[in-house]
Amino acid sequence: MMPEPDSRMIQGVIAEIMRTLTTEVTDQSLPVEGVMPASIDGVYFRNGPGRFERGGQRYAHPFDGDGHITRLDIGPTGVRYSNRFVRTREYLAEEHSGRMRYRSFGTNLPGGLLANLFRVRFKNPANTSVIWHGGRLLALWEGGPPHRLDPDTLDTLGIETFDGRLRNPYPPPSSWLSPVLPFSAHPRLDPASGELINFGLVSGAPNRLLIYQVDHNGGLSLNQTHALPRFSFIHDFGVTRRWLCFLIPHADFDLASAMLGLKTPVGSLRIRTKQPMQALLIPRSPAQGRPTLIDCDSGFVFHVAQAFDSDDGALVLDVIRYPKYPDFRQFEAIFQHPDPEIMPRLERMVIDPTKGRATTRRLSDHAAEMPISAPEPFGESRRILYSLGAPPQRQVPFLSAVQRLDTDTGDLRCRDFGLDMPGEPMWVPDTAGGEGWLLTLVYRAGQNRTELLVMRADNLQTQASVILPHGLPIGFHGCWVPRAEL
Ligand SMILES: [Fe+2]
Repeated sequence: MMPEPDSRMIQGVIAEIMRTLTTEVTDQSLPVEGVMPASIDGVYFRNGPGRFERGGQRYAHPFDGDGHITRLDIGPTGVRYSNRFVRTREYLAEEHSGRMRYRSFGTNLPGGLLANLFRVRFKNPANTSVIWHGGRLLALWEGGPPHRLDPDTLDTLGIETFDGRLRNPYPPPSSWLSPVLPFSAHPRLDPASGELINFGLVSGAPNRLLIYQVDHNGGLSLNQTHALPRFSFIHDFGVTRRWLCFLIPHADFDLASAMLGLKTPVGSLRIRTKQPMQALLIPRSPAQGRPTLIDCDSGFVFHVAQAFDSDDGALVLDVIRYPKYPDFRQFEAIFQHPDPEIMPRLERMVIDPTKGRATTRRLSDHAAEMPISAPEPFGESRRILYSLGAPPQRQVPFLSAVQRLDTDTGDLRCRDFGLDMPGEPMWVPDTAGGEGWLLTLVYRAGQNRTELLVMRADNLQTQASVILPHGLPIGFHGCWVPRAEL
């Protein structure tokens, strides 16, 4: 068992993984230790914040950092590494002037109220995820449109409007605030149709939840629009063969304060986690009827691990639920003075649309976040879920284990990295018929070094590893693209 890290050690690691990266590397060949499986032949892309300050001014929220993409080309001839910041319009302008020029969602401009008053064009950090679909590599951030990247060079090709279809059609002030519609960082692929399904939240009267479909050629259509009672905070959703499901927290943004510059948008967010969440169920086919709202447990959910339809007509969602919303503005305080109620855990929600009832049960006592499952069979229960996590005795929300949970038996395998910080595990299929492989980028504490680990998915043991030429800051989401698809 790993010793419980003390607060000074934790503080040191947090400082390391939130340090601005200053180097960009192009197609550098890296030595492999161990034996790289033959079935891993493709490119692993990952996104995350890479710059945490500008002109000596530190971002007040860690999620405001500028998007930074890592690219690992892994195949029979070896491993090649590149990394690039996403050259958004805002990034280029701030690079040019050497100072912070845009408000971010969690950071106001220095200079007080006058510097922020009515400054309503926020920085799109393009830092949350990177996906490959319809021949496009896209850096995603939920508050704005995607940025298209060259999959070979990682050059930024510009904002992706999908041939203009993401342009905001709504009257001002909506179109002033968001000239191009937001496209969330958690789209879901339906392999049966080849369509990517995604959503965006747009404030206004009414507040709108927009549902998009992107076909296999990259053609986008705005499929459905739903009025929401409040401009809430939704990060992810579930898709099954029958339903789209959004878990809506009891949350409000004080948009007036945010627009006036009195608060940042994140600072104006109030999430009442003692109140029940609501599940918004939207039928994928109009023949199924109308959308319905069902009260669920209280709390907050960032991520949905999987969703499927059960034989009795219920919708099942495996989610990571926080009993209380973690205030990431107080990033260090979360770790130094932990509140047990912010430990996230994997739970199974069963939602019965006919009875309008939802039940929840915990799947494991281990903390968990950044869950993934094999992408197929889509819409059916996938028995094995992988995630980051921590054993139940861990007193701080330091999710530095990689975990594998058998949801049928409850068997949980946990590889605890202690103070080292693994990133979101990425599942890669094993063409030889095994359970697959997990890729993760592990930050080695105190060494300013990041390592790519290739683990067996069934027992989490290391199969191969690659040391990167620098230590990478904290990362969020990524994708695996087989070489044949690039
Ligand atoms: Fe996410």
